[in-house]
Amino acid sequence: MKNNILINPSILNAKFDDLANEIAKVSQSADQLHLDIMDNIFVPNFTFDFQRAKEIIAFSDLPVDAHLMIADPDNSAPKYAQAGCVSVTFHLEAAKNIGQTISDVKSSGAKVGVAVKPGTPFSLVEPFIEQIDLLLIMTVEPGFGGQSFMHEQMDKVKTARSRIELIKGGKPLIQVDGGISLETIGEAASAGANCFVAGSAVYKSADPDNMVQLLRKSAEEHFRY
Ligand code: DX5
Ligand code: ZN
Repeated sequence: MKNNILINPSILNAKFDDLANEIAKVSQSADQLHLDIMDNIFVPNFTFDFQRAKEIIAFSDLPVDAHLMIADPDNSAPKYAQAGCVSVTFHLEAAKNIGQTISDVKSSGAKVGVAVKPGTPFSLVEPFIEQIDLLLIMTVEPGFGGQSFMHEQMDKVKTARSRIELIKGGKPLIQVDGGISLETIGEAASAGANCFVAGSAVYKSADPDNMVQLLRKSAEEHFRY
C-alpha cells in the first residue's frame, strides 16, 4: 500500500486470452489485482471457474483480491483463500452464515471482505464491521464492467467511514467497485473510500500503467481520513 490508498485494476474487461500480458501492464503501478468471479447465478454473467482462477492466482505478479459474485460463497470463499488470494470478498446477500464464512476465510490465510450491492443498506453489514478487513460498497449493480458510477452510493460510503473511524485498531478498508475513473475517484475518496477497483478506466486507456498512477494521485488528493 502506498500512502494508505490501494488501486486494484479489474481484468474483467481485459483480454481473457492474454491475461499474463494484461496483468503485466499494471504490475509496476497497481497494488493488487481484482479478480471478479461470476457464476451466472448470483449475477447474470460468467467469468472464471475455480480451476482457471487458481491458474490466474499462480501466474499473477500482483497479489490477488478476489471478488466472489457467486451464490453460496460459504463453501467456496475459504477455497479461494487456500488458493493464495491475499483477500477474498463475498457478498452479504449471497452468504447463508456470514459470521462463520468470515472466520473460515481468515483461518484459511486471507484477509476477508464483505460486499454489499447498491440496494443493501449499511445497517445490514454493520454488525460484522469489526470482524472484517474490507468492506466493498458496490457503485454499480454487480455483473458487468463499463457501467456508470452510482453517485448516490456515496452516502453509504460516508456512513461506513464515520462508523469505521470509531474502531480502535485495525480498520477495514472501504473498497468501491464500478464506474471508477478519473472523473469519479475523487468523489469516492472524499466520501471516505481508500481502496479502488477500476476496470474499463484502466484497460481502455492507451497507457494502463500511467492511468493507475493518475487514479492514485487523484485519490490521494481527496482522501482526508
Ligand atoms: C462489476 C465488477 C467490477 C468491474 C468494474 O460487477 O465487480 O469489478 O470489473 O468495471 P468498471 O471499472 O468498468 O466499472
Ligand atoms: Zn469487482
